[in-house]
Amino acid sequence: MPRGPTTLLRLAVAAAAVAVLVSPRLRGRVMYGLKAAQFLVHGSWAYTRGGFERHARERFRERDWASADLSGRHVLITGANSGIGYCAAESLSRLGACVHLLCRSEERGRDALTRLRQQLPAEADAASRLFLHQLDVSELHSVHRFAREYEAGGYPAPSVLVHNAGVMQQPRALTSEGVEVNFATNVLGPFALTELLLPRMVTAPGGDARVIFVTSAGMLTECLEADDLEYAQATPFDATRQYSRNKRQQVALAEHYAAHASDKVLFLSCHPGWVDTPILRTSMPSFYQRTQSMLRTPEQGADTVVWLAAAPREQLVNGGFYFDRAPAKKHLPLSDTRYSMRDVERLYAQLQGYRRRLEPQVARASPPASLDAQN
Ligand SMILES: NC(=O)c1ccc[n+]([C@@H]2O[C@H](COP(=O)([O-])OP(=O)(O)OC[C@H]3O[C@@H](n4cnc5c(N)ncnc54)[C@H](OP(=O)(O)O)[C@@H]3O)[C@@H](O)[C@H]2O)c1
Repeated sequence: MPRGPTTLLRLAVAAAAVAVLVSPRLRGRVMYGLKAAQFLVHGSWAYTRGGFERHARERFRERDWASADLSGRHVLITGANSGIGYCAAESLSRLGACVHLLCRSEERGRDALTRLRQQLPAEADAASRLFLHQLDVSELHSVHRFAREYEAGGYPAPSVLVHNAGVMQQPRALTSEGVEVNFATNVLGPFALTELLLPRMVTAPGGDARVIFVTSAGMLTECLEADDLEYAQATPFDATRQYSRNKRQQVALAEHYAAHASDKVLFLSCHPGWVDTPILRTSMPSFYQRTQSMLRTPEQGADTVVWLAAAPREQLVNGGFYFDRAPAKKHLPLSDTRYSMRDVERLYAQLQGYRRRLEPQVARASPPASLDAQN
């Protein structure tokens, strides 16, 4: 019997629907595609420079900064030599904070320190309130060494710790300690640094310390992965997905600490929008090319990080996720990304397991940093 084009189309759609229903793998791909499409449409409206300018007009107030005086507060920022971290360091210095730049490269760290000092000439002693430390956050021995040196350096308890350093690295690679690089940089290192500094942060002046995770809206496309943390079981390795999972794990870590740590420390996560910085240029070149004209400046990307560090405590919700100086939803509609606190605790237990396993290795491999803490 002859079949018209409409009948053939119907048959094709029906066959595709059956295939999606019977094949979990295909269903997973379709769902991921839908989440990604939803994310891109929403992102083009909200995460771009246009989105920032609209939100600034609608919700930013001059008084957000009016009472901010961070004098005497020590702010630690990982990956502060570039992009968002660099701009956050500059703004927080202008608000009076003592800012510690935690950089993995001695050369890039010194260059950032020099540029910041040149940019802050008129500020009262701002240049002398900048400190540079070497820290490769992907290596636990480096994290441990930094924590020891910070304490031995006689610095006061950190008031703000900004987990800003981030990578999206393809192909899959391991650190010198044998841990997948994206996970090591984006999650394990920040977790270890938080654990090491937390006991002192509880004693920070005013009982108002903060830990801020600079996460990514990419996490909205992923549920919480609490088992395969190193993306070892799924093939092929997909750095974009691993990065998004890591960013979801950061949000979950903030939730864990908000539920269990002292309420003298707030745990917050935020996302900066789509920002014109090296990570986007190098890790997502085709996305970068297509969106370049719409991207936020690094200053705009740093805005909410600075706001979270400086805003009055009563404006903030412990464990909250923020975007453009306002609480943001942790899940997109129909995205199937919800998880329970039991999943969060499973993630935390896994991270503790990594620390226990790697601790002996860390103790053996902790030579002094080549870069002393600098004024
Ligand atoms: N740009 C965006 O559109 C966007 C969107 C969402 C989220 N984010 C997040 O924003 C944060 C800042 O990124 P950015 O956009 O400002 O990009 P960036 O300019 O490339 O900055 C990334 C920083 O992380 C540092 N870093 C990487 N691995 C490190 C390690 N193992 N130890 C210490 N530092 C390390 C880099 O140091 P080197 O200079 O030595 O490489 C650099 O200073 C990241 O967490 C990123 O995931 C960015």
